[in-house]
Parts: sequence; C-alpha cells; structure tokens
Amino acid sequence: MFWHLIHVRGFGDINNGGVENVNNYNGRVVIVTGGGSGMGRAMVHEFTARGANVAVLDINPKRAEETISELAKPDLAFAHAVDVSDPKSVQTAVDAIIQRWGHIDLLCNNAGILDGHATAHEVSLEEWNKVIAVNLTGPFLMARAVIPQMLKQGKGAIINTSSTSGFSAAGGGTAYTASKHGVIGLTRQLTFEYGARGIRVNTICPGATATPLALADPVTAGSPDMEAAIKKFPAQRWCQPSEIAKLAAFLGGDEADFVHGSEYVMDGGWLAAARDPF
Ligand SMILES: NC(=O)c1ccc[n+]([C@@H]2O[C@H](COP(=O)([O-])OP(=O)(O)OC[C@H]3O[C@@H](n4cnc5c(N)ncnc54)[C@H](O)[C@@H]3O)[C@@H](O)[C@H]2O)c1
Repeated sequence: MFWHLIHVRGFGDINNGGVENVNNYNGRVVIVTGGGSGMGRAMVHEFTARGANVAVLDINPKRAEETISELAKPDLAFAHAVDVSDPKSVQTAVDAIIQRWGHIDLLCNNAGILDGHATAHEVSLEEWNKVIAVNLTGPFLMARAVIPQMLKQGKGAIINTSSTSGFSAAGGGTAYTASKHGVIGLTRQLTFEYGARGIRVNTICPGATATPLALADPVTAGSPDMEAAIKKFPAQRWCQPSEIAKLAAFLGGDEADFVHGSEYVMDGGWLAAARDPF
C-alpha cells in the first residue's frame, strides 16, 4: 500500500533513474528580484544557463539590462523595473510576466538592502521602515502577487533570501537583523499555508558573499581587518555569488521536491563556529 502511494506521487520515477528536468529548467519561468547585481545577477546567469526564461526585476533597470547583456542567451530574459516595497509596482511586474510567459514556476525573493549597522537607539524610524519595507515586506508582496498564479497551476516554488543575520546578531544593525529573522518566519508561515497546495517555500541564508553590497559595506569590507576576519571563518574565504545561485537552482528544482520550509545556510561555517569575526 505504502509503495503504491509513493509510486503514484512520482517517487518511483526517482528510483528508476531520476526525475526528468532535475537540473534543467527548459520552459520554466523564474523571477529574480534584485537581478541587477550580486547574487541576483548570478542567479539570472545560472537559471538561463539551465534553459529557464527569467524575469530580471530590479529597482535599477539599467543594472537589470546590464545583467541581460552579459547572458549567453539574452533572449531568455527580460528586465522589468520594480520596487519590491511598492505593491503597485510589484503587481504590474507580475502581471507583465504572466502576460508574457503564461505561468510562473519559481520566485527568487533576493533583493535586499543593508542598514548601516545602526543600533536600536540610533536607527531612525525612517531607516527602520525602509529596511523592513525592502527586506521583509518586499518578499511578502512578491509572494502575495505570484501565489494566485501558482495555486492555479497547482505547483510552484519560492526562495526567500535571508542571511546568517536571520539567526544571529552582529552581521547587521537592528533593522537588518530583524528583517532577516522575519524572512525565515515568512517562509515557515507560507509553507504552512501553501505547502499542501503544491507551493514549496524555502530560505537561503548566505554568509559573507563577495557582492557589490558586501564589498561596499563600511563595517565589513571597508575594515582593514576584513581579510583577517574572513580568515577566522572555517572556510577562510568569501562565498561567491555563483555558489548561492547553484543552491537556488537546487532548491527551485525537482531534486528538492521534498524540501519545504527549510533554511539553507551557506556561510563557510560562520554560524557553526559561533564567533563574531569583526
Ligand atoms: N552579500 C552578502 O554578504 C549577503 C549576506 C547575507 C545576505 N545577503 C542578502 O542577499 C541578497 C542579495 O544581496 P547582494 O549582496 O547580492 O546585494 P547587491 O546590492 O549586490 O544586489 C541587490 C540588488 O537588489 C536591488 N534592489 C535594492 N532595493 C530594491 C528594491 N526596493 N526593489 C527591487 N530591487 C531592489 C539593487 O538595485 C541590487 O541590484 C540581499 O537580500 C542581502 O540582504 C547578502
């Protein structure tokens, strides 16, 4: 009986030599927010290399176009200006994607900003609201806009980008750390609400990754001690954006069919070693 059930759900196909399209995304539609830089740009490269159609959403459309101009197959992607913290802008972008490609298979909620490491009594309400709006409300608004389409399809996946700051303090200021903890809660709640209806939601938690955001951060990359700090991580190096993109490709694809509501940490051992390197 049990084996009959898992065969019906397709598990038997894995035993028979692998699920089709495990690593390729031919014909799939992927949305990457913050696709104009860093990890988002690497995700656009990774997903188009695997055959996906990718919507490159960014508040900076010039950078989104730059990403597309670098691609081996630029025709697979299109850029759309979006501010993830603005519900109208989000809905307009998602409507344009559905009109263009007819379905949405994967949303990568990657766009995010830093907070200048301001402590609780120093951070202005304006700064707090901005960081929460982009880093936490943004992923919520994007998810809210794509979920009706995924429910119609009976299938879809969402990957939210948190951080090691989703688990621990000191990687950012009050607003950044609170926003990234919130992203993990958002993933878990969406899993509870939609997992049984075919939508898988997971979180990626990068550690120090060599992107324009991290390299411009005065408290981390700006510090003359940064390289010494990096040497204190077990991996003793920066993460590369392409490594995060490969993790996203795994989590968004069929190989991760049983992965719901999880946090995937890629931090070179930072959290495990439990030591603030700065
Ligand atoms: N780089 C790191 O060390 C690191 C570590 C942990 C988590 N993260 C997270 O990873 C994600 C990607 O960061 P990155 O380092 O690649 O940053 P990045 O600055 O290189 O890229 C972020 C992109 O998001 C876009 N963006 C910013 N605000 C936006 C908005 N309101 N609407 C749409 N797009 C917007 C920017 O224009 C930019 O192109 C972020 O969520 C960040 O918090 C980064």
